This record gives sequence, structure tokens and C-alpha cells, in this order.
Amino acid sequence: MRLKEFFYHTRQVLVNNGIDDASLESELLLRQTLGIDRVQFYQNLEQYITIEQREILQKLLQRRLRGEPFAYIRSYSEFYGLNFYVNNNVLIPRPETEILIDILLNKAQKYHRPFIVDVGTGCGNIAISVALNLPQAEIYAMDISAPALKVARLNCYRYGVRNRIILLQGDILQPLLCPVDFIIANLPYVKRSELDNHSYEPQLALDGGTDGLKNIRRLCHQVKGKLLPGGCLLMEIGKGHKKAVVAFLNKLFPTARIEVIPDLGGIDRIVSLILPR
Ligand SMILES: C[S@@+](CC[C@H](N)C(=O)[O-])C[C@H]1O[C@@H](n2cnc3c(N)ncnc32)[C@H](O)[C@@H]1O
Repeated sequence: MRLKEFFYHTRQVLVNNGIDDASLESELLLRQTLGIDRVQFYQNLEQYITIEQREILQKLLQRRLRGEPFAYIRSYSEFYGLNFYVNNNVLIPRPETEILIDILLNKAQKYHRPFIVDVGTGCGNIAISVALNLPQAEIYAMDISAPALKVARLNCYRYGVRNRIILLQGDILQPLLCPVDFIIANLPYVKRSELDNHSYEPQLALDGGTDGLKNIRRLCHQVKGKLLPGGCLLMEIGKGHKKAVVAFLNKLFPTARIEVIPDLGGIDRIVSLILPR
């Protein structure tokens, strides 16, 4: 069988199994199997596929049909223009989180050497994107999950920032011993009743307790004493969480400036809190 016939066949299997964007996924599965880029793929459509390659593709296809996200199959996920190594110990970075980086980079401009903490770092996507865009920044990346930190460490090496990001294991802000300029966090915020028990992603990265706000509430309580005067907390929140989060932040920090920024889909996504100087 030629590559193009295999491409059509794989695409049809994906369509029959209700997978969106079957054409793209079929191309990506074949490229993953053959270890080739997009240009090579289209240049080689007339080439024959070997038995070994067919076997590899069959295995990858079966994983996909069982519902495994494509990012885990190919072992990486794109975020902020970078490719992060991922496995099933970490959340697959979501595009809506990228706005958190834009907001931070904008606010950090006026600092010569901003001191930044990323809470719940997962594969390290936020901390590493920030490190590459703010070469002077001092960055701590923390997570309660040791396997997730292992993935973050690999990504730090991959992007040459291992000597710039301090990785710490612990619960929310507990590992942080001194106050910082910025605390950024994308902690789990899915309501427990809405969790997909068959998800391939770690429950620890998704489970936000009964109302989805368990971790966010704990983070807000721990922020006291961990942010310098004029310091800023930036947190990703879930759909419908704005009112509750703003209410308890107002109660905890009555003199702070609080703002909520929507994502590109218009969903209130990032809460920003700035302490008075
Ligand atoms: C939603 S994922 C975010 C991953 C990554 N920062 C991103 O934005 O794609 C949440 C992360 O928080 C971590 N986490 C969960 N509970 C935590 C806790 N109590 N303290 C610190 N990290 C926690 C999880 O292990 C997971 O890596």
C-alpha cells in the first residue's frame, strides 16, 4: 500500500469513529509513524509503506480510537509557540491559558528582575514560556506532583532554562519561603461532579473539589505574606467562577485592585489582583 492510500484509509477509520478533524489527525498519525515532517509527508505520498510501519501505525491508531489524546500519543503539545514534552502525568496545556502569559509579560515589563512563582506548573509550560520571554526573571515552578515535576524538568532542559527555573514540590505556596513580585497559577478547577472518570489526564490536574474552587480558595488564603507590596496574583479560573472568586478576594484583600480578563472566547478566564504599594 502507498502512503496516500494509507492516509485515506486511516482518515476513514477516524471518521467512522466520530473523531473531529480526521484528515489532520490521519496525517499526524502517519507522520508520527514515519518520523517525517509535513513537507516530506506530501512529497512521499506515492511511496510504499513497509509492514513494520503498518504495524506501528496500527498500534497508534488503536490508542487514538480508545480515546487517548493525540498529544500523549505523539508525546508533545504546543503552547505559546513551543513544543512541550507531555505524558499522562501532566495536563495537556490548553490554548486558553496562553493569555495568562501575555498578561504577565505586559505587567512584568516595568520590572528589571521580576521574581515570579508558577503554582501547579504541570509540564512547566507557563514557567518556561515566561523564562524564555523574560531573560532577567527569577522563576520558581512548583507542583504537588513529583511525576509532573519530572516532566517539567525535562522541558526545562529541552529549552535550556534548567539553570533559571527552580523546581519545588509541595502543596500550593507552602514551598515558597519569601515574598515575590508575581504569583501565577492554573490550579485544577473542574467540579468533582463534572470530572470525566475515563479521562487520560491526571485527576490531580483537574479536580477542583465540590464547587471547583477548592484549590483557588486555598491559594488566595496563602497569598497573604507571599506577595511583595505592589505584587500581582494572576490566576486562571473556570467558566462561571468569576463572581465567587472576586467576592472572596475582595473580602481577603479589601484594598487590592481586582480585575477579570476574558479569554478569546469571551469567557472570564484570568483574575488579576494587585496589592497596594
Ligand atoms: C490544571 S493543571 C495546570 C498545568 C499547567 N500549569 C498548565 O497551565 O497547563 C494543575 C496542576 O496543579 C497541580 N496541583 C494540583 N493540586 C495542587 C496543590 N495542592 N499544590 C500544588 N500543585 C497542585 C497538578 O499536579 C497540576 O500539575
